[in-house]
Amino acid sequence: MSTEERSGTDMFAPYKNLVRMVVDGRECRVPENNSVLRCLQYVAMDAISEAELCWNGDCLNCKVWIAEQKNDKAAIACRHMVSDGMKITKLSEHLEEAMKDAFTGDDDVNILEL
Ligand code: FES
Repeated sequence: MSTEERSGTDMFAPYKNLVRMVVDGRECRVPENNSVLRCLQYVAMDAISEAELCWNGDCLNCKVWIAEQKNDKAAIACRHMVSDGMKITKLSEHLEEAMKDAFTGDDDVNILEL
C-alpha cells in the first residue's frame, strides 16, 4: 500500500504532516496526531494489521520503550501519541516478531535507512 493510499484511509486520525520517528535505529516518516501503534502500522501495514493486538490497552502486546533524557520509558503504543523525533529503542517481543519482515526488507514498508 503506497503512502498516498495510506493517507486516504480513515484508520488514521486526520493529519497534515508526516513526522520523524526512529524505530530501533531506523528512521521513518509517520502521520502526526496518531498513536505510536498506528504509526507502526503506517510503516508496516500488513505486519501490524495482521498481528494479535487489542488496540484498546488490554493485551499489552504493543509495549515499546521510548528514549528519554536519562532512561528509556516503557509505553503502551496504542495509547501513546507520536511526537516528532521520537526514538523507540525497543519493541515488545510481539511487535518485534510482527515487524521482523519490515526490518529485513521482505515487506512493503515506509522506512528510511539512516
Ligand atoms: S494493542 Fe493491546 S494494549 Fe495496545
